[in-house]
Amino acid sequence: MDKNNLRIENHPVLGEYIKGKEVKITFDGKVITAYKGETIATALIASGIKVFRYTPKKNMPRGLFCAIGRCTDCVMEVNGRPNIRTCITPVENAMIINTQIGAGQWKEGSN
Ligand code: FES
Repeated sequence: MDKNNLRIENHPVLGEYIKGKEVKITFDGKVITAYKGETIATALIASGIKVFRYTPKKNMPRGLFCAIGRCTDCVMEVNGRPNIRTCITPVENAMIINTQIGAGQWKEGSN
């Protein structure tokens, strides 16, 4: 097992992990490798990134919590759109992902 790969390769219930096509995503200006079929959160965690946002009132760090799209702790700015739940959003090549500060901001030109 590769120490730098944090992806589960053999899951007792889901079986063998089959990597999808390699894609590149940008997190806070840094290009990282991800694989088609995995979520943004998976790619970030596998790259050692654990803080996805900071809360609006107390500026506290948040990251992956429920991992099923229910708690919103994992929301980030994705392609200029805030509040995207990264635990249920699949990666796409050339995605721009930024840590969300507070409620986040819409970037001009995002849809
Ligand atoms: S971690 Fe709970 S919604 Fe994503």
